[in-house]
Amino acid sequence: MNKKIEKILKKKNKSKIVSLTAYSKNIAKILDNYCDIILVGDSMANVLYGSNSTHEIDLDTIIKHTISVKKGVKKSLLVVDMPKGTYNNKKNAKMNAKLIMKLTKCDAVKLESNNNFNIIKELVSSEIPVMGHIGYTPQFKKKFNIEGKSISAAKKLLKEAKLIEKAGAFSIVLECLAPNASSLVTKNISIPTIGIGSSSYCDGQILVSDDMLGMSGFYPKFVKKYASLNRIIEKAVKKYTRDVKKGKFPLKKNFLNGTKLR
Ligand code: KIV
Repeated sequence: MNKKIEKILKKKNKSKIVSLTAYSKNIAKILDNYCDIILVGDSMANVLYGSNSTHEIDLDTIIKHTISVKKGVKKSLLVVDMPKGTYNNKKNAKMNAKLIMKLTKCDAVKLESNNNFNIIKELVSSEIPVMGHIGYTPQFKKKFNIEGKSISAAKKLLKEAKLIEKAGAFSIVLECLAPNASSLVTKNISIPTIGIGSSSYCDGQILVSDDMLGMSGFYPKFVKKYASLNRIIEKAVKKYTRDVKKGKFPLKKNFLNGTKLR
């Protein structure tokens, strides 16, 4: 088994798993020092490409961004979202997952759950590590919902999680689960759960980096904004604009004389 995955599995009930998304090398390089898992999420459709839905990201795009991210990753486990429509059946799932793994050299793929346990099984038996994803699964659910609020709904989520575990996934993302459901699932499966909007009862947490950095403008209750990069960038751009207009940039020291670039 992949050593990085072994390390993640050992964290269950011992220490929390830290995870964030990345779509390019520079940010991945920073995350790599801190994150156990870096996800190249299909959330890039919204965050990077301004789409209203994650459905608009295709295989080529996610592969290109992962190739960039991989250049910044040494230690973290690199997981890639399989875009909608790329794992409809065993055959196309296997072909596309193999392509992602081969071209990006990532460690694993993530599949949103849609009764696709046999597809997870197929990938795992082809030595492709799989992360599952239950709860609010934007690729398959039209409407946002907090999942697992009633006891029966929570039990249904647990059943789904158990089937994903049985199919061979090494961990599961729990997206927007009610706290009791997160706790029920986390306590009753042996693989780690990674929560987003799913309380602190999970084995780890993931957020979309652009949200927690204050870049995306998307700040639901479950996101904690750790920085306001939008404001920092705006301040810098304002300063630059002023300098250019006033002839304060470039200065003589910025001129390229002779042969040296630096
Ligand atoms: O695409 C993504 O960023 C995700 C996270 C929300 C888990 O799937």
